[in-house]
Amino acid sequence: MPDFRFDEIGYWSEVKLAIIKEYAHAYSTIMAAAERGPLRNRHIYIDGFAGAGIHISKNTREFVSGSPLNALLVEPPFSEYHLIDLNKGKAANLRELTRDRPDVHVYEGDCNPILLDRILPKVQFSTYRRALCILDPYGLHLDWKVIEKAGKLETVDMFLNFPVMDMNMNVLWRNPDAVDAGQARRLTRFWGDESWRQAAYTTDSNLFGFEEKVDNAAVAEAFRKRLIEVAGFKNVLSPMPMRNDQGGIVYLLFFASAKNTANKIANDIFRKYGSRGETNG
Ligand SMILES: C[S@@+](CC[C@H](N)C(=O)[O-])C[C@H]1O[C@@H](n2cnc3c(N)ncnc32)[C@H](O)[C@@H]1O
Repeated sequence: MPDFRFDEIGYWSEVKLAIIKEYAHAYSTIMAAAERGPLRNRHIYIDGFAGAGIHISKNTREFVSGSPLNALLVEPPFSEYHLIDLNKGKAANLRELTRDRPDVHVYEGDCNPILLDRILPKVQFSTYRRALCILDPYGLHLDWKVIEKAGKLETVDMFLNFPVMDMNMNVLWRNPDAVDAGQARRLTRFWGDESWRQAAYTTDSNLFGFEEKVDNAAVAEAFRKRLIEVAGFKNVLSPMPMRNDQGGIVYLLFFASAKNTANKIANDIFRKYGSRGETNG
């Protein structure tokens, strides 16, 4: 028996998995067609918060493949797969599931230094290497430096989970003075600096100069601009809201890339699943 519990995932996590799977398939097909001769097999798959590889669907109670297993089944395949999870049992499960695949590298540990120091340096523009990178933390566990490095490389297409529920529960309170300093630092690390304070609060909407919190959409739009202006991603779609079973928004799924074509494909996929969600969410 594995020494961890499989995650139980709801409807919107299954939607997220379907979106990433569909994009990964389109991405690998286009990249494989473009990579010829000595430039063959140069696109890689990176999953920073990979999970155990398998989850349990809350809806059907059946096992469902997680993002790394879906990527492993993509045809044509990626040339390498880099899968990271902090949880020892989950990383061991990933190793077990992929033991016959020499193209898979599993890392147990905090993905932030592993991505910055070991994996992202493999996708330099000049080497013609390209990557699809999934950053799907439960909460504020990601360091902006990773996002910024991925953007500046101009070789990375990225799906990013923007964890609004963690932000709202722990940091973006109506009274910012009451927030624990350690919690505020978690958001600063994710956001990259303290400009979230200006992005998330305004004094414009009342006569008395009180700070009021803006809505999720305004916070997300400020972050979208940072992904373009500071991290250097050329294209960043407006994110797609992912909800819990009660309809509350848990996170926003961002897609960012260096290519217009990539955004067009991802946008079509977002629209397809977004309109399905309206009837099921
Ligand atoms: C939302 S789950 C990932 C699900 C997966 N992307 C999927 O869709 O199948 C988040 C995972 O991140 C892992 N995790 C949390 N903090 C981490 C960190 N700093 N580095 C790497 N993994 C981490 C957790 O153990 C958990 O398995």
